[in-house]
Amino acid sequence: MKITVIGAGNMGGALVKGWCRAGLAQDIAITARTLATLERYTSVYPQLTAHTDNVQAVQGADVVVLAVKPWLVDEVVAEIQPALGTAVLLSVAAGVRHERIDVYAMPNIAVEYGEGMTFVEEASPYNINKVSELFSLCGHVQVVPAKQMSAGMQVSGCGIAYVMRYVRAMMEGGVELGLRPDEARQAVLQTMKGAVAVLEESGRHPEDAIDAVTTPGGYTIRGLNAMEDAGFTRSVLAGLKANEQKK
Ligand SMILES: NC(=O)c1ccc[n+]([C@@H]2O[C@H](COP(=O)([O-])OP(=O)(O)OC[C@H]3O[C@@H](n4cnc5c(N)ncnc54)[C@H](OP(=O)(O)O)[C@@H]3O)[C@@H](O)[C@H]2O)c1
Repeated sequence: MKITVIGAGNMGGALVKGWCRAGLAQDIAITARTLATLERYTSVYPQLTAHTDNVQAVQGADVVVLAVKPWLVDEVVAEIQPALGTAVLLSVAAGVRHERIDVYAMPNIAVEYGEGMTFVEEASPYNINKVSELFSLCGHVQVVPAKQMSAGMQVSGCGIAYVMRYVRAMMEGGVELGLRPDEARQAVLQTMKGAVAVLEESGRHPEDAIDAVTTPGGYTIRGLNAMEDAGFTRSVLAGLKANEQKK
């Protein structure tokens, strides 16, 4: 399958690297505004084809991924439309609709390491199969109705930044309590991995797993209740719902 990624920036670039890690480099063409951006990829993956000309880049593609900033989508679609042929046009631009786009998807940057979480909006079975095949090479894929795309974007597209803010807070606390920054970082990341393993392997609900960690009258329950007093759950929900009025 020939893939063209238009806009090899943070998101487009993460997809390119994820697909290259999955062995697709020779099937990928990338574009950017500047040669400097393109060289960052071709220096690592010389099998990639790189262009600053979008029209040239989409010739012969089976799937074209639009990964430019949302305000550039109309302009770029108008530019490439005559050269698209039968290619599936897939957009990852947040919150932008265009009649020519065949599939909308919302990945997150963990696709670069094969651990992405991508929401794909329902479309024709042919398009969904093609797109799901690609995203499943670099993580988990969930196909959802249009009305769930915004939730998917918040929980995973933006959510990865929310998780990183939690990591930062835990690191700062660890340092305040006496760990070195590198020790705190390692401890927080391994603890997160451990939490994910416990939930994935056991299939438990988080609150059920918490019960297994909290001794009545002990340290953990006091810490959890202090976090709730400071608005932990309320803050997470406020962050997730902050863009509701933008819809
Ligand atoms: N970042 C995320 O985590 C994330 C997650 C989900 C979805 N998205 C979506 O992904 C899209 C891109 O976001 P981003 O954060 O990756 O932005 P970004 O890092 O600024 O990347 C945009 C890329 O587009 C290139 N570009 C600009 N104008 C172009 C044109 N006319 N033709 C071809 N390429 C062009 C830029 O090239 P130069 O580098 O040469 O300037 C840059 O490499 C957005 O629509 C966003 O909503 C992002």
